[in-house]
Amino acid sequence: MQALTINILGPVTLPEFPREFHDTMTKFGVFRAFIAGSWIDFGSYMPVKSPINGEVIAQVNKLGTDHVNSAIERLHYSWPSLKAIPAHKRADMLIKVADFIEEYRQLFRDVLIIEGGKPINEAEGEVESTITRLRMIHQDLGRLLNVGIPGEYGAGTENKYAIVVREPVGVVAAIAPFNYPLFTSMVKIATALLAGNPVIFKPSSYTPITGILIAKAIEYAGLGNYFAMVTGPGATVGDAW
Ligand SMILES: NC(=O)c1ccc[n+]([C@@H]2O[C@H](COP(=O)([O-])OP(=O)(O)OC[C@H]3O[C@@H](n4cnc5c(N)ncnc54)[C@H](OP(=O)(O)O)[C@@H]3O)[C@@H](O)[C@H]2O)c1
Repeated sequence: MQALTINILGPVTLPEFPREFHDTMTKFGVFRAFIAGSWIDFGSYMPVKSPINGEVIAQVNKLGTDHVNSAIERLHYSWPSLKAIPAHKRADMLIKVADFIEEYRQLFRDVLIIEGGKPINEAEGEVESTITRLRMIHQDLGRLLNVGIPGEYGAGTENKYAIVVREPVGVVAAIAPFNYPLFTSMVKIATALLAGNPVIFKPSSYTPITGILIAKAIEYAGLGNYFAMVTGPGATVGDAW
């Protein structure tokens, strides 16, 4: 991995985004939202500042409550096709999310540093632990299994057998904080998708560019139709659900 040099007395800028990421932006530094498979510019923005020197490093879409409600509706309609993918295949798709983060690990790291203010070793550690956690996702399949409970543990049910069937609940909201914007977000998102739930993801307004990268990784893995990444003030976005 290349070293990152930041002159805190000079301008602080986001790293250059590779060509594959250009659909995430309307123009350089102005980022779209991701709604059920599409990158959308809603035309209203809010600034993203680097904690390194307070400089504005990007603009992200500022969604209103109605935009978020319609994103939830779109995800709700995508739910049956997500449920139809067997859980082990959903796990395989989440491994591709790890592959994507691994391929662009330097970009993920540099965004964590520039927008999150993380020291280099902590940013590298967060990227690494996110990849490791995602690569363990098949182990979580065991938690989705249906469970059989023999009735012999209670009087009167000795000859009975109960089966607990675990089912997805529908669109899940994942709200993430600023301090582990990649790891915390990915764990919430990956486990919900693995269980067959579409996810609407609200990154912290301090670290929305990491949210953009996450949406790109989910899209790459073929899970984009079941995912939305909505940026905007917590109270406004939160009113939608
Ligand atoms: N972060 C941690 O490591 C951690 C660990 C343990 C416990 N906690 C607890 O978690 C809680 C949150 O604290 P925090 O400092 O981590 O996060 P925070 O900065 O308060 O906000 C976390 C997320 O919630 C969003 N949000 C704010 N108001 C909302 C609303 N009305 N509806 C929906 N989303 C809303 C924020 O959006 P905006 O950024 O747009 O405001 C952000 O995405 C606290 O009670 C804290 O003690 C946090």
